[in-house]
Amino acid sequence: MIEKSFVMMKPDAVSRRLIGKIMSRFEEKGLQLIAVKLLQVDEELASQHYGEHKDKPFFSGLVDYITSSPSLAMVIKGDDCISVIRKIVGATNPKEADLGTIRGDFAMDTGRNIIHASDSPSSAEREINLFFNSNEIFDYEISDQGWIY
Ligand code: PPS
Repeated sequence: MIEKSFVMMKPDAVSRRLIGKIMSRFEEKGLQLIAVKLLQVDEELASQHYGEHKDKPFFSGLVDYITSSPSLAMVIKGDDCISVIRKIVGATNPKEADLGTIRGDFAMDTGRNIIHASDSPSSAEREINLFFNSNEIFDYEISDQGWIY
């Protein structure tokens, strides 16, 4: 089933100049970028995005981290893309993430784990609407010439 997911490269990914390398992992897999925005997440947006974790001990550190410098927000579209992207991203704790995943290859610390990806269709819809206006999403069709998927 064709799905859309919200994916965000966190401040460490942007500051470490990993945008291109990370983006190509999704494109090379066959997924389609339909929206992208470099933005400075503020405290209010961070609290909305991570609202379900507000009582967790890591919450204030997470908000400090995510608001510390610009992030890159994206909407990615593709077949079963929510679970496919979670596999490409890897486990939350980068030390436990498999090599070959983004977190497994580029990160060492849960508190600097490079990237966020929606974990369900309902989260994806909520997060896409939180970060993007509808006129910022380009839901274009790629013509199927047999070699693009
Ligand atoms: S939980 O408790 O299982 O619901 O939390 P989890 O799904 O593992 O993580 C929720 C998000 O919080 C981030 N996280 C942290 N950030 C900073 N420091 C610490 N210690 C920490 N622990 C968890 C985690 O990466 C999740 O954010 P996203 O952006 O979804 O990856």
